[in-house]
This record gives sequence, structure tokens and C-alpha cells, in this order.
Amino acid sequence: MFSHKRADFGPDFVFGVAMAAHQIEGGQRDGRGSSIWDTFAATPGNTRNADTGVIACDHYNRWPEDLALIRDAGFDAYRFSFAWSRLLPEGVGTVNRAGLDFYDRLIDGMLERGIKPFATLYHWDLPSALQDRGGWMNRDTTKAFADYAAMVGRHFGDRLESIATFNEPWCITVLSHFMGVHAPGYRDVRATARAMHHVLLAHGLGISAMREEAAGAKLGIVVNMEKAEPYSQTPEDIEAAALGDDIFNRFFLDGAIKGRYPQRVTDILEPYLPTNWQDDLPAISPPIDWIGINYYTRFLYRHDASVPVFPFVQVRGDLEKSNVGWEIYPQALTEFLLRTAGDYPGLPIYVTENGISETDEAKRIAFFDKHFAAIRAAQQQGADVRGHIAWTLIDNFEWAEGYDPKFGLVGMDPVTRDRQPKQSYYDFQAMLTDGRQPTA
Ligand code: FCB
Repeated sequence: MFSHKRADFGPDFVFGVAMAAHQIEGGQRDGRGSSIWDTFAATPGNTRNADTGVIACDHYNRWPEDLALIRDAGFDAYRFSFAWSRLLPEGVGTVNRAGLDFYDRLIDGMLERGIKPFATLYHWDLPSALQDRGGWMNRDTTKAFADYAAMVGRHFGDRLESIATFNEPWCITVLSHFMGVHAPGYRDVRATARAMHHVLLAHGLGISAMREEAAGAKLGIVVNMEKAEPYSQTPEDIEAAALGDDIFNRFFLDGAIKGRYPQRVTDILEPYLPTNWQDDLPAISPPIDWIGINYYTRFLYRHDASVPVFPFVQVRGDLEKSNVGWEIYPQALTEFLLRTAGDYPGLPIYVTENGISETDEAKRIAFFDKHFAAIRAAQQQGADVRGHIAWTLIDNFEWAEGYDPKFGLVGMDPVTRDRQPKQSYYDFQAMLTDGRQPTA
């Protein structure tokens, strides 16, 4: 049982669950174009057990029962993402009618069930046709994204509560172009710097394009924050953590909201950024309506002069961990919420993802309970936190880790794909419906 009540968070606080297109939809026929996650997962060695999202949770067909689960638990919102290549199979140009119809059904299905649609335009599944032309390394992709954003805004905007341009720019750029862990699997500093800049430019152009088209929807961006702490109190480790914090937790919001990049990062990336990158900063930073923060864990930073570009290694500490080894550190959520409220004043904040991979339900429930307390603490100290969106409703395709991690409030039979609510699902239901029977 959670030790919190819905009402503790304020009358309009939104509780929701998040899932992302490639992790759940399947439905790869029906006119959907190829994305970088299709081919990355199809390549040996890139995902655990060679798992793929070909069928995933079959949400493409089973979405009505998934929306029923969301409604019956008393959640207010479903944070979902559009698969760009389902709507525009080539990334630009011809629209796939079946894709429009699918998201029409999904969004109308949410509204019929009293669920607020929180949409994300880009949760990592770039159309392969755009990757063929250099993907995020190519400035033209920013224009393609703005056109896609305008199209989504025009067609769906009046039915959406909010639209985020990007989910987790750090993962799209550093994890995917520098560390090679996610699609497209590059390890190249120039590719990384260009991707970092172009994703932010695409964000800015996308916001500006949607301002006209997406009447009513509140426009924002979702970043992941990960607590960066020094491994020891040496000046070198302290500086390593400060650099890690700037790359992970400041670069993208400072760019999108303040129109500037942290100097520690540009001192290093300058030779690899596009020429005259500074000229783009105004286009990168049009006004937005809200900030989304995804928060899971922390890393310790140890200086290592032998590592080129960013001279540190990240190590795990000795706090309690989830079953995928992520340390549990709720108080950093309070810190991030207060810092975000202070650094970017006037913008409502949503915790757009937060959750744990676990098979031990008591541990999952305790995780959420402590993070709820962390949100309350931030609210009490003045942060304008408007919602908590749990990652995730159903165990799903966890990218390079395949289907091994268990982040869901609901399990899934690997053969029948039947959904099986876990204790944490029922605890959410008890907190959110507060004894009321969910409507049928
Ligand atoms: C976040 C991603 C989400 C999922 C969770 C566990 O970084 O946005 O898709 O992978 O982590």
C-alpha cells in the first residue's frame, strides 16, 4: 500500500503511465515504414537474446484492453509516442492512412475513457529513410522533423493534452552516437556533437511549427536526469561529476530554454559542432509550456585522464539497487525538481517517467512510495510539480536489454501476450480510486 493519497499532491495533479511506440506496438505491417530500431535490433549482438520489437506487446491490436487497464487503475493520463515511420513511412512526404487511423482510434479511445493523451513525437524510432541520409548528423533532418510536427499538430493537436517534441535527447545523442548502445549504434564524437545540436534545433523548429497548428495542446520537451556525484572528494572527481552533470542534466534544457550551452561542454565539443552553431540558438529556444523530467537513478564519476573527449568513467555506488543494477536514490528527484524550478522559472514540471525494473513487488511499491515523498518534498519547497507518470504500464521491449527488465505494473505472458496486473497495479488503483469503484 502507498502511504500517500491522491489528494496530497493537489487537486489537479495528474497521475499517468507511459509507454513508447517501438516498445509496445508491434504492428510493423500496415504501411509502417522501417525505423532505425527495426534494423538495429535485427543486427546480431545489439540486443539481449536478439530480442526485437516486431510484435512487442501487440498494442497495435490490443490497445483497447490496455486503455481499460489505464482507466480501471484510475490513471488520469497515458503518455504515448507516435511512431514517425507509421505516419510518414519515408520520414517525409506521403502519409500512411492506416497510421493516421490507428492514432485516431487510440486518441479517441483515450478521450472516450476519460484519459488525457500526453503525446511524444520522437521516442527514438527515426525513419530509416532519414538515417540513410545521415539521420541526426544531417541538418536536413531538423526540417523533416518540423514538417512531421506540423502534420501531427494539424491532425491530432486539438485532441491532445500535451505534445513533447523529444523524449530524452541524451539517449538519442550520447547513448546512441557516442556510446553506441542504442540505434543507430555509432561511437563517434563528431556524430554525437552534430546530433546534440540538430536534435535541439529540431525541437525548436518543431515547437515553432506546432504553435500555429496544435491549438490547445501544451508544448514541451522531456529530458532524463541522472544524479551525477563525484566518486571521491578529489578536485578531479568533483570536476568530472560537474562535467557529467552539464552533459547529462544541463545541456539540453539550457539549450532549449535559455538558448545557450554549458561552457564545459562546448569547450570540448566545439571542434565537432557544425560551424556557426551559435546562430541557431534563437531558433532552438522558442517559448515552451512545460518541462518533463524522467528520473531513475544516479552515477558516480571518477576522473580518468586516459579517456578521450570526456575524461571520466561512470561507476555504480553501493546504494540499494534494482534488478538491473540501477541505484535507488529518491532524494535526488527532490533536488532535480527544485533545481529545475529555480533554473527555468515559470514552467510547470511533470515527472514524465519514473519506475523500477523488479520482480519483487514490495520493492517496486516502496520505490514509488519514496519517489512520491520526494515529489511532495519538492512541492512543499515551492516547485510547481503537476504530475507523476509511471514507467510503465506493461513489461515491454526494453531496447538493448530486450524483454529481460521488468518495469511494468502489469506483466505479460510471453506466449499468449495476456496482461497480468501485479500488486503494484492494484496499489496504484487503491490510491488513485481511493476506494471508489472504477467506472466500467
Ligand atoms: C527511459 C526510456 C524508456 C525506458 C525507461 C526504462 O530512459 O525513456 O523508454 O527505456 O528508460
